Amino acid sequence: MERYHQTLYELLGGEDAIRRIVEAFYPKVQAHPLIGPLFPDNILPVMEKQRLFLTQFFGGPMLYSDQYGHPMMRARHLPFEITPERAEAWLSCMREALKEVNVSEELSAAVLARLSGPAHHFVNSPST
Ligand code: HEM
Repeated sequence: MERYHQTLYELLGGEDAIRRIVEAFYPKVQAHPLIGPLFPDNILPVMEKQRLFLTQFFGGPMLYSDQYGHPMMRARHLPFEITPERAEAWLSCMREALKEVNVSEELSAAVLARLSGPAHHFVNSPST
C-alpha cells in the first residue's frame, strides 16, 4: 500500500502559518511571569530566528541551518536557567498561540507533542 506522509509544516499551512504562530506566541511569552523576563525587550530578532527554526523543525525548508549552521539548541539555551516549570510555561504559551490562530485540537496536540521533547530536553536547572 502506498503511504503519503505530510509534514507538520505542510499540515499547519506552510510559510504564512508558521509566521502567524510565531507572531501569536511571543506576546504570550513576554507576558508570562516565569519566562518573559528571560527575553530581550526587542523581541523581533528572536521571532525571526524562531520562524526560521520552526520552519525546518516541522519539516519545511532548512532556513535556520542555512543561516546559522547546526542548531545546537540545547547549547544555545544553556545561558538561561530553564526549569521544568519554565519548559511547561513555554509549551503552554505555544498551546495558546496555536489556538489563537485556529489550529485544530488534533493538529495542535501533534505539534505540542513534537515540541515537548525538546522543551524538556532544554531543562538545565532544578525546580525552584
Ligand atoms: C523550555 C523552555 C524554553 C525557554 C525558557 C526558552 C528561552 C529562550 C531564550 C531566553 C532564548 C534567547 C533569546 C535571546 O536571543 O536573547 C531562546 C532562543 C531560542 N529558542 Fe528557546 N526556550 C525554550 C524552549 C524552546 C524550544 C522548545 C524551542 C524549539 C523547539 C526553542 C527555540 C529557540 C530558538 C530557535 C531560539 C533562537 C536561537 C538563536 O539564537 O539562534 N526554544 N529561547
